[in-house]
Amino acid sequence: MATLVTHCAFSPSRRNILLTLVFILISIPPLHAVLEQGKWTLSVDSEMIKKENYFYFSKTMFNNSLVEIKWLREECSPSVNLSISWYLRSCRCFEEAFDLDPQRAQTHFGSNVVSKSGDSGYYITHVYEPIECHQHMTRNVLAVSVLEKPTLMKTPQLETPNTPERRRRDTESPTHDTVAQTWEDSPYMFIIHIANPGTETKWSIKLEVSMRGPHQYISASEWPLMIFYMVMCIIYVLLGVLWLALSACYWRDLLRIQFWIGGVIFLGMLEKAVYYAEFQSIRYDGLSVQGAVVFAEVLSAVKRTLARVLVIIASLGYGIVKPRLGALLHRVVGVGLLYLGFSVVEGVLRVNSEQGSSSRILCDIVLAVTDSCIVCYIFVSLAQTMKLLRLRRNVVKLSLYRHFTNTLIFAVIASVVFIVWTTKTFKLSKCQSVSAI
Ligand SMILES: *[C@@H]1O[C@H](CO)[C@@H](O)[C@H](O)[C@H]1NC(C)=O
Ligand SMILES: *[C@@H]1O[C@H](CO)[C@@H](O)[C@H](O)[C@H]1NC(C)=O
Repeated sequence: MATLVTHCAFSPSRRNILLTLVFILISIPPLHAVLEQGKWTLSVDSEMIKKENYFYFSKTMFNNSLVEIKWLREECSPSVNLSISWYLRSCRCFEEAFDLDPQRAQTHFGSNVVSKSGDSGYYITHVYEPIECHQHMTRNVLAVSVLEKPTLMKTPQLETPNTPERRRRDTESPTHDTVAQTWEDSPYMFIIHIANPGTETKWSIKLEVSMRGPHQYISASEWPLMIFYMVMCIIYVLLGVLWLALSACYWRDLLRIQFWIGGVIFLGMLEKAVYYAEFQSIRYDGLSVQGAVVFAEVLSAVKRTLARVLVIIASLGYGIVKPRLGALLHRVVGVGLLYLGFSVVEGVLRVNSEQGSSSRILCDIVLAVTDSCIVCYIFVSLAQTMKLLRLRRNVVKLSLYRHFTNTLIFAVIASVVFIVWTTKTFKLSKCQSVSAI
């Protein structure tokens, strides 16, 4: 061990930088992440078609992605003639493509005029000859042999749409299920219309819709996120290794709190790894792993709670001015549980409901208030601890706490800047509906 100790070249200033890094990484708020699937199964039968004829799918896709429809299964005896058609449209307004309901899908279907100002896009619509559904259909009956070119949507105002910059990417080669190819990087809506011309025959069919681009099934908006999570995972692994090395260096005077910091780093690593695995699953299978995102969110909530509790305990001066926490422990645990509860609810809501729903906004506000209270609590306890140290004239520990305070202030500022930056940068363009102006 002696050789190891002599080889420990971590000066106090480097340790401070490391500590700052840990705090910044831990205080980075999670990104908005509702992962878009790449593959859907559509089951339609004669009962359902009486209520609903339009089936919609939304996804952000790269240029030259392929939309495929595979005929999976049918239950058609006696045989029945089905009229099937689809409509593929690119939008500039994100919510135009994603805020669909059966009513809106019906209005959009076949439309060549945009419904929101500031929007523009292209569309393709394809109407099949009546398809006779009988037993043992071929799976690629819906394939389109010559892929059509998109038509420009009419915009109500004289507004020239920005032409997106051209980039070369490897083109996917069409397979035998392909029905269309995308023409730009954009959010798309894909609507399938199925009708059964007035017969009372019972039937049911099952189709598989998939959208595959140059990076397989992952959507264009999530590709950069996936890279981000990969980099974060690597950073956490490096941080974990560094922390282990440091702990080995100073193993003689390790405090219990330092084991817990190791635990926080490990949780962060696990959370990022689960997210990355989920991205990989979407990328290669087109389907999300049930519960993986929620699991990652819970891990992340536990990690953030643990980090806050540890900082509170350190700022109360545990092990420095107080040998034990005593009654304060209840308060610390209470604050931790409160924060854990709110952040689990917030995380689960964030991945399960759409942006802007009132329950989400309420939860965000409550969480932000709780977080600010925690920050206040930390700084008040820090001030008290430092006052005590000053009275006791303990210069070494006082300077330690001064560094700690600076690090915390830096981390708080960094995370506020980060929040402002992400809300500014990742705010998707809002478009007004034409009827509203
Ligand atoms: C379906 O249409 C084809 C031709 O359009 C016709 O020959 C056939 O009899 C029809 N089948 C049914 C079940 O109506
Ligand atoms: C999409 O890709 C095609 C074929 O590579 C190219 O001709 C077209 O210009 C691209 N569109 C955009 C908007 O970049």
